[in-house]
Amino acid sequence: MDLVDKAGNIRKPADYRDRYQALGTFSVVDLNGDTQLHHTYASPETAEYYRKTGKFADGTVLVKEVFGTDHAKMTTGDAHWASGPKVWFVMIKDEKGRYPGNPLWGDGWGWHCSADSPESKCNGLQERLLGCHVPAKTTDWVYVQGYPVLASK
Ligand code: HEM
Repeated sequence: MDLVDKAGNIRKPADYRDRYQALGTFSVVDLNGDTQLHHTYASPETAEYYRKTGKFADGTVLVKEVFGTDHAKMTTGDAHWASGPKVWFVMIKDEKGRYPGNPLWGDGWGWHCSADSPESKCNGLQERLLGCHVPAKTTDWVYVQGYPVLASK
């Protein structure tokens, strides 16, 4: 796992926008009424493996980017498109419990994010404890309903 050092610290993959597969996008209206686009990529072959087994393979990497949006009336309607990236999140599937005692790792995944804005500084344990991914516990902590490519054809 070259994205992880011996201590279990996680870094964002360098080339995910070119090499990873697009899983899908959530459009989220935040508390200020602004539309964000949450775009998720997965390491190669994630979708094929998931469609065959209903599982994420050990070592699967998910990268989520949160974008602000611009919008305008277009011939298709009130269109919103991604503008400046705000924050990213990385999850790495770990079936072996490789980093016991490291708070970034738990529930079968490694969790890491990096935020430009200090107030949303995050670390794995604290955020996971917030329970934000609990609603997705039955689908291995991932909101698979947002990713059509994971649905069996
Ligand atoms: C280090 C902490 C975190 C990491 C690494 C992380 C990682 C991710 C990743 C990779 C995804 C895309 C895969 C999926 O759909 O599950 C995702 C989606 C999601 N996460 Fe997290 N997350 C973290 C913290 C949070 C927190 C604090 C919240 C609650 C505010 C949250 C709520 C969600 C929701 C609702 C989705 C699916 C829909 C969406 O993208 O808006 N996560 N997260």
